[in-house]
Amino acid sequence: MLELPVISSPETSTPRPRSGARQVYIETYGCQMNLNDSEIVLGILHANGYGVAEHPEEADVILLNTCAVREHAEQRVLERLNHLKFYKRRKPELVIGILGCMAERLRSRLLNRKQLVELVVGPDEYRKLPQLLEQAFAGEQGIAVRLSRVETYDDIEPLRTEGISAWISIMRGCDKFCTFCIVPFTRGRERSRPLNSIVAEVQRLWARGFREVTLLGQNVNSYRDPTTGADFADLLAACAQSAPLMRIRYLTSHPRDMSDKLIDTMAAYPNICKYIHLPVQSGSNRILALMNRGYTVEQYLERIERIRSVMPNCALSTDIIAGFCTETEEDHQATLELLRTVRYDGAYMFKYSPREGTKAWKWGDDVPEEVKLRRLNEIIALQQQISYEINQQREIGQVHEVLVEGPSKRNPEQWQGRTDTNKMVIFPKHPSFGVGSLILVRITAATSATLFGEVVRGIDSPTAAEALPTATEP
Ligand code: 5AD
Ligand code: SF4
Repeated sequence: MLELPVISSPETSTPRPRSGARQVYIETYGCQMNLNDSEIVLGILHANGYGVAEHPEEADVILLNTCAVREHAEQRVLERLNHLKFYKRRKPELVIGILGCMAERLRSRLLNRKQLVELVVGPDEYRKLPQLLEQAFAGEQGIAVRLSRVETYDDIEPLRTEGISAWISIMRGCDKFCTFCIVPFTRGRERSRPLNSIVAEVQRLWARGFREVTLLGQNVNSYRDPTTGADFADLLAACAQSAPLMRIRYLTSHPRDMSDKLIDTMAAYPNICKYIHLPVQSGSNRILALMNRGYTVEQYLERIERIRSVMPNCALSTDIIAGFCTETEEDHQATLELLRTVRYDGAYMFKYSPREGTKAWKWGDDVPEEVKLRRLNEIIALQQQISYEINQQREIGQVHEVLVEGPSKRNPEQWQGRTDTNKMVIFPKHPSFGVGSLILVRITAATSATLFGEVVRGIDSPTAAEALPTATEP
């Protein structure tokens, strides 16, 4: 999963709470899965009479939904807890809780931390939150960190941020046990939601005005309908058919399970976005084996070739870890070489962060910090150069279908949206189009991370060539 910046209390699409109802404020750290989990938590609490506070000072409950994948992510939460003291001093009855992967990892070690934390709840125990909060208001500390083999929150309607783009969790947990990764320990075993219920959610979201959904899972390729055994390609096809104008994306894939059937299904439906995030982690076969990734560089490259032979314009991104234990200069050079060979559109690049409880933890952390940092910087510099070259050479002059998201953050006179290949495009505001319109934009300039363009015209379906402009404000 990709790491996101902190997301403050999501705006909700449901009516504001009854006055007098307890108000909850939630902050989300980590990946998209956590973002959707926060919406699930708000869904559960809203159904139990809680309102959603937009600012911590208005809240009766402050929840931090946390990530444990790297030390740095945990450090940020601990620093944030320090700041929350201020609110607790002003309102002593305030309840502060830690949710998510860090709660699962550190458990009771978090309780009463700095006289602040009264609630610790892991990712499979969110149904208990209303009861635990009642107890917390009565002065009792609460902890619930059991992992489940069946919990998927399938029946919970997430309280979503208003907009055009929604996350849908289709499966939870991970059985891959990469040796560096804490996720199988904090999120437990893999389990999937029923296909029919996911498809129904896609249709409901379309009817509500959403125009793009991202199907989420730690490893979506392992999806299996619990009764029919339908696989992820079947699910993608069913979603694409059920809402033919909805853009369908997904995250994250594991290279070992990136099947031909999945690639062919992506190619077959115009509304399945041509973008794949395919984490490789390292370009060295020795390191990949140590990481228990289950593929070699050669096998990985064969998958990339297959994707590109079927979908020549499919964008690709990846995750890279720099400085995994025992990584030599030669291993590092192999990673740089892999980046040059694949030429990804983008990458998420991290320094190795040892996690207690994983297999690699026992092997130590022998690459010195300054070497890790230098290698990471080399990887970032190379990838930025490649992204820049791709955008300059391939994107300028192209006409892309762009889903309009709204005003650009930097300049409200400009608007922003994404291509089907997941690239951000900035273009002048146009009176005929609103948020949720699908338009054609010609690219005129580019940096390594952003495209800039001019509106050509509107379209009313991902494939229509002759359609008239539409302005669909959801
Ligand atoms: N150290 C650094 N990066 C990690 N990731 C997972 N665990 C670690 C770790 N211990 C990275 C991987 C994964 C992404 C979500 O986070 O690249 O794909
Ligand atoms: Fe972690 Fe590997 Fe599972 Fe991804 S596939 S969540 S890196 S164990």
